[in-house]
Amino acid sequence: MDRLIVDDVALVYATSRGPLTALEGLDFRVRDGEFVSVLGPSGCGKSTLLKLASGLIMPTRGRLTLAGQVVTGPRPDVGIVFQQPTLLPWRRVIDNVLVPIRAMGRDVKAYRDKARELLELVGLKGFEDHYPHELSGGMQQRVGIARGLIHDPAMLLMDEPFAALDAMTRETMMDEIQRIWSTTGKSVLFITHSIPEAVYLSDRVLVMSPRPGRVIEELAIDLPRPRTVATLDDPRFVALASHLRAQFRPKEDMP
Ligand SMILES: Nc1ncnc2c1ncn2[C@@H]1O[C@H](COP(=O)(O)OP(=O)(O)O)[C@@H](O)[C@H]1O
Ligand SMILES: [Mg+2]
Repeated sequence: MDRLIVDDVALVYATSRGPLTALEGLDFRVRDGEFVSVLGPSGCGKSTLLKLASGLIMPTRGRLTLAGQVVTGPRPDVGIVFQQPTLLPWRRVIDNVLVPIRAMGRDVKAYRDKARELLELVGLKGFEDHYPHELSGGMQQRVGIARGLIHDPAMLLMDEPFAALDAMTRETMMDEIQRIWSTTGKSVLFITHSIPEAVYLSDRVLVMSPRPGRVIEELAIDLPRPRTVATLDDPRFVALASHLRAQFRPKEDMP
């Protein structure tokens, strides 16, 4: 079944210098339990797409449908992980994870154990009572991931969650995301500008054009799972990545 349907979506921003078309004719689907990455150059509308899917902004044309319902605002069956962890500095790690629960007006106490479990899942056991400034950037980003999962959303939206991380933390995080995805069965829409990240994690990679963004290619990633460091040397991995890389030449700023 389809979890997310993006149906001929356009998004035009009103700016001081007139209308700016960020997305035009954007069309794709994410099936239940599927891991889909969206790959595209900076400024092509990736974050705009994430804001639309999370119901934070409304499309100018077209529509987005989640679990059969048109998206008209933020919903409890969606979890969001932003590019920056945006933690509340005055709240302890565990209370940051519980922010969506508080925002939804649910009983925070009933979710404390779940928050602890998630912090363990993202490798932060023992840091529950720390404050954000006591954590590294990578650890803060993992708090952001736990926060995105706290209400057990069927669909997880992630906007370049590893962009601010160093290469080694990034590799660890890719494996954590793969593990979380494979153990929870969630649908994931993963936005990135990193080709290796997209190929490593995805069932399918969607390539977006420069602004106004739309999907210009769809690539199935049929590499066996679980994917490991050995996958990175698999000739099929290399071929898929170099195929995608060719889409972005000559102006390429991939890691
Ligand atoms: N709130 C906004 N108001 C006006 N223009 C915006 C706004 N947000 C993004 N844009 C513009 O829309 C385009 C797409 O932005 P964005 O979705 O952030 O791209 P990406 O995430 O792919 O880098 C860019 O040209 C950006 O300047
Ligand atoms: Mg962005």
